[in-house]
This record gives sequence, C-alpha cells and structure tokens, in this order.
Amino acid sequence: MTYKLLLATLPIAGSVFYLTYLHLNLSRKVQCQTKPYPQDKTITLPSTIQNRPEKYIIHHERARKSIPTASLGTYSKPETLTLLLRHTMATFSRQPPAWGIWYLIKDAKDRGTFDSAYIRSLQFAPGDRVCGVYVVSSRDAERVTLALDAPESYSGPLVEGMLVVEVKEEGSETTFINHTVMWREKGKGRAGALESAGGRWMHGLMVRRLVESGVQRLLAELGDKKGL
Ligand SMILES: *[C@@H]1O[C@H](CO)[C@@H](O)[C@H](O)[C@H]1NC(C)=O
Repeated sequence: MTYKLLLATLPIAGSVFYLTYLHLNLSRKVQCQTKPYPQDKTITLPSTIQNRPEKYIIHHERARKSIPTASLGTYSKPETLTLLLRHTMATFSRQPPAWGIWYLIKDAKDRGTFDSAYIRSLQFAPGDRVCGVYVVSSRDAERVTLALDAPESYSGPLVEGMLVVEVKEEGSETTFINHTVMWREKGKGRAGALESAGGRWMHGLMVRRLVESGVQRLLAELGDKKGL
C-alpha cells in the first residue's frame, strides 16, 4: 500500500526536485525579483494606470544578468539587443505558455508570428508583432518595449501588461534585464501569472532560463554576425 503510494508520487517528487534544482542553479546566474509595484523609475505605465495606481493590481518581475562587456567582442548594444530578443522569443514560442496563446488565436497570419524563422528575421522595430500578442511599441539603442496587444482573432481572457528588455553598460559589465509588468483593475478580469506565489515561481524559472540561454547563445555566436 505505502509502496504503491510511493511509486505514484515518485514522478511528481522527481520533477519537483528537478525544478528546485534548476531554480537553485539558475538563481546564481540570473537574479530575479517580483514586486507588487513598479520596481524602478524607468518603467512607465500607461497614464490611466499611473494616475490611479490604487485601482489596479500591478506586478513587476525583473530578471537580470551581468557579464563582462569585453566578452561581447564587437557587438554593438542594438545588435546585442536584437539577437537576444530573437533567441529568447524564438525559445519562448516553443514553450507551453506560448502554445496556450497560439491556441487562442485563430488567424493564420497572427499564428505565423510564432514561427522561429519569422522571429529570427525580425529587427524588433516598432510595430513588429511576435508570439501573437506582443507588439514592439518603442525601441531605442538599449531598450525595447513590447506591449501586450492581442490581435482581433484572439479569443482568450484579457491580459494587460508589457515586456521591457534592456542591455545596459555599467562600468566594465554589460547587464541584460528583462522586465515583465502585468496589471489589471481590482475586481475585474482573472488573476495573472504573477499574482500567486506558485505562478511567480514558475514564471521566474521560465524567464531565468530564457535570459540565461539567450545570453549563452549570444556568446556562442560571437564573431558570426551573419544573422543580422
Ligand atoms: C522576457 O520574459 C518574457 C516573459 O515574460 C519572455 O517572453 C521573453 O522572451 C523574455 N525576454 C528576454 C530577452 O529574456
């Protein structure tokens, strides 16, 4: 009886151990923190929310990783930013959260924005749509903002938020930062991924892996600039 029970729980325990291991391993490589308010002044929320923050539930997750700038060779900041976004968004497009979004989008053209070859061809200029619901709303040399902006053929729940991806030089280091900001009006809509402890944990794990693998891939491709 106990033996059977043990056998039944083994796969679950196994994956919990595996995820915990991944989490611990990654926390040394990529810092990640989520707060129920914007963590830094560089994040500008839409004015309707900025003016009445007490009416909204706001979560801001910030994941960051620093490496010596010298290891980036001759890459410029805009190139680094574009390549990082290509890697991380192409990887994201193949993960379960992206399948969920894909399923809720019916239009073939919108579904095409999940395609790896399409994502890898993007410059991430204003107006570029990626993984169905993310649209580049602004871009400068070291920062790209993607608004959550579902296309007409999307039939899922309304989720509001934005992603901000930055590449910053600080002293002799270059820091990669991924901000995920989500909000909803109190009493309206459904709780988002960052509102529960479990959701924050899973999301943090996913984003840490994305940042870590994106930066590793970038370093591995050094010197081979064909992609741009
Ligand atoms: C940032 O996180 C989002 C998930 O919120 C992910 O889709 C995206 O690929 C990540 N980007 C980078 C550059 O890590």
